[in-house]
Amino acid sequence: MPSHPAEGKAPGGTEALYRRFVGPLLSRDDGADAERLSRLTLSTLGQVALRRNWPLVRGTLEGLGAELQRRDPRLEQTLFGCRFANPVGLAAGFDKNGVAAAVWDRFGFGFAELGTVTWYRQGGNPRPRLFRLAAERAALNRMGFNNDGAEAMRRCLERQSLPPAGQRPAVLGINLGKSKLTPLERAPDDYASSLELLAPLADYAVVNVSSPNTPGLRDLQDETLLRRLVERLRRLPGCPPLLVKIAPDLEDDAIDAIARLAYEEGLAGVIAVNTSIDRLGLAERRLTQTGRALAEEAGGLSGRPLRRRALEVLRRLRATAGPALPLIGVGGIDSPETAWERIAAGASLVQLYTGWIYEGPDLVPAILEGLGRQLQFHGLASITDAVGTGLPWR
Ligand SMILES: Cc1cc2nc3c(=O)[nH]c(=O)nc-3n(C[C@H](O)[C@H](O)[C@H](O)COP(=O)(O)O)c2cc1C
Repeated sequence: MPSHPAEGKAPGGTEALYRRFVGPLLSRDDGADAERLSRLTLSTLGQVALRRNWPLVRGTLEGLGAELQRRDPRLEQTLFGCRFANPVGLAAGFDKNGVAAAVWDRFGFGFAELGTVTWYRQGGNPRPRLFRLAAERAALNRMGFNNDGAEAMRRCLERQSLPPAGQRPAVLGINLGKSKLTPLERAPDDYASSLELLAPLADYAVVNVSSPNTPGLRDLQDETLLRRLVERLRRLPGCPPLLVKIAPDLEDDAIDAIARLAYEEGLAGVIAVNTSIDRLGLAERRLTQTGRALAEEAGGLSGRPLRRRALEVLRRLRATAGPALPLIGVGGIDSPETAWERIAAGASLVQLYTGWIYEGPDLVPAILEGLGRQLQFHGLASITDAVGTGLPWR
């Protein structure tokens, strides 16, 4: 495992287990099938979420919380009507069906984005479809929105008896995608059906128009199509705060158009970015599992190589939209320093996926402690005061 500031501390139980058993599996591209490992983790967490009031399970979750949660009032914020206990969230795609919605706060997250969920249940692309690039701390995926569908997510969340939206220890966002079966021109109805069903359960919702693995989906980032889509969704009764998640591969003009549209349409925010179809300097890199170079493989890249582009897109959004539009920064964040950099560049919140897998659960408290130290160093009273300041990591 690489070092980060928590390294000086003796690792807690979870971190020690992660380093000993999971670390070695993740350190090689073919160490263990990446998708099976995620599925195993999620099905375990799903059982834990359903039985979280059983005494033994409750005790274990309390232990997990004691190890990974950090309460720091300076990191609290209220954005688009949601109160975030801290600015670090789980990015979309890990808990696609919301099975562990009730327990993400125990991992220290201030929020978790469930999904992407589509109206129709779908199996996704053929396997293998998730690949580790361990040396680069990156991943390539072409999952293709495998999920059980909006109705199954609703049942799954209801079974967990979550506190009502607005009263949860971690804010829950629901990320919506277009079903593969639905033609592009009917996309607004497809998204609207999912949102109508899930709105009462969501603190916020995300229109995902940026996954590279559903043919045509990214065309919905076009200004006219996106406006039509957003207007349709915002008319739904009980529509929660609505955000749009964009791709890192957009041209500057398209980023500017989305920033303006977000402002004009009263969107709650923009999430930047999804995985990239650019090979980010890794075109020649071969996948151990297929023997082919990344240039010849379909899918989106995530992790450390995405950091620089994700930061550029965020800066551009901030420059065009100004400070009033909340931005969520995601892509290549894998340390307290890279989280601070994104906040200083204009993100009010950040999300983790690939970095969290490689670094392990201790990354969340390490980031929260690191952010707290930066606030102190720069003489800032709260994380809100740090957003968009451009202040360097010290
Ligand atoms: C295996 C995998 C599945 C993903 N699935 C989704 C998804 O369903 N919806 C979505 O909006 N983003 C999805 N993403 C993108 C992440 O949410 C995130 O935007 C991207 O990975 C960049 O962050 P990272 O570098 O921290 O991983 C997925 C990423 C990975 C690695």
